[in-house]
Amino acid sequence: MKVRAAVLETFGELLAVEELELAEPKAGEVLVRLVACGVCHTDLYTASGADPSGYAPAVLGHEGAGVVERVGHGVASLAPGDHVVTLFSPQCRECLHCRDERTNLCLAIREQQGQGLLPDGTTRFSRDGEPIRHFMGTSTFAEYTVMPEIALAKIDPAAPLDLACLFACGLSTGLGAAMNTARVRPGSTCVVFGAGMVGLGAVAGCRLQGADQIVCADLSEDRLELARGQGATETLVGGPETVEQILELTDGFGADYTFEATGNVHVMRQAVESARMGWGLATVCGVAGKGETLDVIPRLLITGRRIAGSSFGGVKGRDQVPKLIERWLDGEIDVDAFVSHKLTLDEVNRGFELMEAQDGIRSVIEFAG
Ligand SMILES: NC(=O)c1ccc[n+]([C@@H]2O[C@H](COP(=O)([O-])OP(=O)(O)OC[C@H]3O[C@@H](n4cnc5c(N)ncnc54)[C@H](O)[C@@H]3O)[C@@H](O)[C@H]2O)c1
Ligand SMILES: [Zn+2]
Ligand SMILES: [Zn+2]
Repeated sequence: MKVRAAVLETFGELLAVEELELAEPKAGEVLVRLVACGVCHTDLYTASGADPSGYAPAVLGHEGAGVVERVGHGVASLAPGDHVVTLFSPQCRECLHCRDERTNLCLAIREQQGQGLLPDGTTRFSRDGEPIRHFMGTSTFAEYTVMPEIALAKIDPAAPLDLACLFACGLSTGLGAAMNTARVRPGSTCVVFGAGMVGLGAVAGCRLQGADQIVCADLSEDRLELARGQGATETLVGGPETVEQILELTDGFGADYTFEATGNVHVMRQAVESARMGWGLATVCGVAGKGETLDVIPRLLITGRRIAGSSFGGVKGRDQVPKLIERWLDGEIDVDAFVSHKLTLDEVNRGFELMEAQDGIRSVIEFAG
């Protein structure tokens, strides 16, 4: 079939919205009609050429939600008409990691996904016979995409898809960092560095876990306002003094849980330094630049602080994304507050501009139905 898609042709240049050929889903694959897709930093990171593992030409996009159109041979867990959220972090339910509760990093299709291929080593997108690669196993900047069955979470059809798409990346990452990776205990003190999509999700996750005190630090007053809306009890304008300020707010000890959601290694260090001695856990969500390292004084670790990293919030997508969506539908998470702009697929580059200008939290592309 013919589909319109936003293609990364050349690093550092605008995405080109053009018509591609999309082949039918093969065994274990699903054809999805996209309804909405968020524009996330990782798309821009790859488009800009900053990501050393990037490749082109490829169809970008990974924060998608849509409806199953057709399924390939052997697909049993999904049927046409099902509503789905796309998962750049799949869940095969069979590999060593999927069977272990300690991680969500499924091993099933990592290698092919990293090369922009579907699990059988080929692409479904093409242009005049030339293969066009997939991106993060999702390629959701397209009217339709083909994805592995194990990379789709089936969700409640009552969930509006123009908001549900945020659970495909940023929102689940933040919520999961607090709920899965850190497993914040009720009554705790928490600090979240960064109030973008990921940090705001972490604030909401700390609230859902029953934290008593949730401090959020960001550079933008507007974003701190949003953090208060998600449950932050105190907000700080981030800077060199932030660690001291947090120690003051926590009887000199630091917080039980800290979260970094900025991508800045200096802020990661602040997150470690503002975690409490004895048991403070610093959870790193941000993606640092190539070659950057995290500088930590070892004594902080010997005296009981710990550091954890969190990819997609430790969320096992097919099992847990539907549950997070239920909590939203039950009124426990305010998702509307995150969507600042609605765009068409043709305006995808505008989504990058808005992101660079920090105009709003998320731009969401809506596909004409
Ligand atoms: N681990 C994962 O699976 C995963 C998934 C999605 C995104 N990410 C990463 O998470 C990070 C955050 O993503 P986002 O979409 O929320 O980004 P964002 O740019 O919208 O938000 C980052 C926020 O950090 C704030 N900030 C910058 N410097 C600061 C400082 N010194 N102190 C306090 N706040 C500061 C900015 O003002 C901004 O609001 C990025 O690095 C992104 O690549 C990771
Ligand atoms: Zn993302
Ligand atoms: Zn697996």
